[in-house]
Amino acid sequence: MHTIERLSPGAFAAGVKELAEVLADAVDDGASLGFVAPFGREPAARWWREQEAAVAGGSLLVWAARDAGGIVATAGLSLPGKANSRHRAEVVKLLVHRDARGRGLARALLATLERAALAAGVTLLVLDTRSGSAAESLYLSEGWTRFGVVPGYAADPDGSLQDCGFFYKLLT
Ligand SMILES: CC(C)(COP(=O)(O)OP(=O)(O)OC[C@H]1O[C@@H](n2cnc3c(N)ncnc32)[C@H](O)[C@@H]1OP(=O)(O)O)[C@@H](O)C(=O)NCCC(=O)NCCS
Repeated sequence: MHTIERLSPGAFAAGVKELAEVLADAVDDGASLGFVAPFGREPAARWWREQEAAVAGGSLLVWAARDAGGIVATAGLSLPGKANSRHRAEVVKLLVHRDARGRGLARALLATLERAALAAGVTLLVLDTRSGSAAESLYLSEGWTRFGVVPGYAADPDGSLQDCGFFYKLLT
């Protein structure tokens, strides 16, 4: 049993420790999320705190999925500030703690993001993800279009360069 809610700036600030646990767990597991090893709870919490201004300003929308023990998954939408891009957003930091995977949480978060995006007038979503990852399978199964693969685009936490697929989804 879980609930999904968009975090207000206050709830986001209050949830930083739990969000940090989810982020650090994913990096520990080798996910390519912009960080390299060594990475732990404190750097993860610092990174989330650095996002507080964007959350407060409305350019970053963050959702959390909770079970009885607290936050177990998260996903965000980053809204570009440009005047010609108000119809577009990037899906960022879709993360499910290893203890909570395989229960449909990522799929549920994505559906929530898509509904919220449409309600806000956003009709185009974009993202990139490591080739061959579980996330890539998820996006392909959810109707996203992979429009290219860039070789060696980003490093895994162990420093090895990995190919990344670039995806979009038109919302209707
Ligand atoms: C990718 C991730 C978010 C999936 O979370 P999840 O809650 O376990 O996913 P779901 O249970 O909603 O599964 C949805 C679909 O994703 C795909 N999927 C999930 N785990 C998978 C795996 N280990 N291998 C292959 N496909 C997988 C499947 O298509 C699955 O559908 P199915 O269950 O009908 O086969 C999770 O593994 C994760 O947090 N990974 C690390 C962080 C990351 O890479 N995030 C993406 C950044 S772009």
